[in-house]
Amino acid sequence: MSSKHDSSTPISEGSNHITVGIITISDRASAGDYDDLGGPAVKKAAQKAGWQVLAEAIVPDDAARIQETIRSFGKQGCGLILTTGGTGIGPRDVTPEAIRAMMRVELPGFGEVMRAESMKITPNAILSRNLAAVVDHALVIALPGKPSGAVECLSFVQSAIPHGVAVAQGTPTSC
Ligand code: MTE
Repeated sequence: MSSKHDSSTPISEGSNHITVGIITISDRASAGDYDDLGGPAVKKAAQKAGWQVLAEAIVPDDAARIQETIRSFGKQGCGLILTTGGTGIGPRDVTPEAIRAMMRVELPGFGEVMRAESMKITPNAILSRNLAAVVDHALVIALPGKPSGAVECLSFVQSAIPHGVAVAQGTPTSC
């Protein structure tokens, strides 16, 4: 008979307990110049994982707007905040700088794995400065802007997210 939780995954880290905020970071999507495809793609992946999406926003590539939205989503109870866009090398790509200016700690392994696995799909993955960090009590993960790339990157780190969220929230864990 199979158990819902294996011994290495405390019940408090179950995937259903993860509350998510999704932020699309794009000047053009926020201005309505084109439809936001990244946010809905990430939302679908989050829901497929069994997580509860609490909040969504589309903001321009502006550090202050990115930071205030992350902070607000954390206060609303999002344990996991997923951003999509602004990780590249364009003059308006400021997502990593915005997050680094407000984070408590960075988790370099997330960026390393996302880039390394994505390189097996496209050489352009090296142009993304994907990262993960703890901001207040939330785990924040910055995904690339292309919808398929964002979903791919999320899938590469998904198995570490329940424990990462629990630790970021200060929930007692097995380690
Ligand atoms: N990662 C994956 N898995 N798949 C992709 O298609 N696109 C890359 C990269 N990472 C991509 C990817 C491209 S083309 C760019 S320019 C960078 O992400 C940065 O994207 P962003 O500035 O929209 O965040």
